[in-house]
Amino acid sequence: MADIGAILKKYIPAIEQEIQTALAETPDFLGGVIRYHFGWVDENFNPSRAESGKMLRPAICLLVFETLSGDYRPALPAAAAIEMIHNFTLLHDDIEDNDRERRGRPTAWALWGKPLAINTGDYLYTLAFKTLFRLSPADFPAERLLAVHRLVADSCLALTVGQDLDLRFEGLQQVTPDMYIDMVYKKTGALLEASVLSGAILGTDNAQLIENYRQFARNIGIAFQIRDDMLGIWGDSAKTGKSADNDLRRKKKTLPVLYTLAQTTGSRGEQLRALYASDQPLTDDQISFVRDSLELAGARGYTQQAADSYIDRAFTGLQQINLPGQPHADLETIARFLIDRSH
Ligand code: IPE
Ligand code: IPE
Ligand code: MG
Ligand code: MG
Repeated sequence: MADIGAILKKYIPAIEQEIQTALAETPDFLGGVIRYHFGWVDENFNPSRAESGKMLRPAICLLVFETLSGDYRPALPAAAAIEMIHNFTLLHDDIEDNDRERRGRPTAWALWGKPLAINTGDYLYTLAFKTLFRLSPADFPAERLLAVHRLVADSCLALTVGQDLDLRFEGLQQVTPDMYIDMVYKKTGALLEASVLSGAILGTDNAQLIENYRQFARNIGIAFQIRDDMLGIWGDSAKTGKSADNDLRRKKKTLPVLYTLAQTTGSRGEQLRALYASDQPLTDDQISFVRDSLELAGARGYTQQAADSYIDRAFTGLQQINLPGQPHADLETIARFLIDRSH
């Protein structure tokens, strides 16, 4: 596989520069927390270099746009806005999930408390929409600009609905695999889809081509979150930079858990369902019991198979696009990384 780092290196400095430009007039504290979250400063707001996130969404946007137009730069404000929205969701998600660690460092709320972290997220969200206005009318027809604003706003609505479902599923017994897929499409797939489609909409009016990109994006987004949920159970926290137990502790209704709850019979099954019916988070011993049950049920193989079916659909969409050029080949490499990654 081509080196993903080498592909991203071409785009990340320009994306970071666009985000820095957007942040230029941000007051010190808000700007400090945002830059901390991006890994650019330490907790005293002194320059440092920590994990910034993979920046996959903006890179995908730029690769699609470059495939269609030959030059990625005019789409930079869209790419930066999407990465800012992604990071706003993480600031809030870590509060919602009670997670104290992200990208190998304390989360913003763990350092500055929930009220300030929520408000910082709100600032970043709003700044993302302002950044979209930096797309130049000299580069794009007005209809394409409007379509991108609508796309990004719709993806924010979807991801908020997805987060609502994710959180309420923690306390709900009757969650089915179909409900899970709907939830992950909304909480994660929609913004990934917007990453692909913003590049496509800015770059072409060809409705069939946009539709093929949509098929690719929608399915890769679902597979990406299934992979994230597998990493949330079986991942190495030294690599993911996130807790390895918290999804289980909070009774997240991920696909392996749903499968195990449905498949496990006998007294183990009864015990398991009783644990998930209680309104308390799981203890360490209970987490071990759930881990053993996942193993016995073969939940990992089942989940990987489910992911594979979305991956197949995604690559079918990508093959139909079949455009010449390095950016399109690089998009395929990134898509492979999205579903095979260990961090
Ligand atoms: C994590 O996304 C949250 C999900 C939507 C699964 P990423 O894995 O893209 O996070 P970073 O930005 O690289 O840290
Ligand atoms: C990802 O949620 C979706 C959003 C943040 C909108 P998760 O809670 O599954 O992601 P991680 O594992 O904390 O990154
Ligand atoms: Mg989370
Ligand atoms: Mg979450």
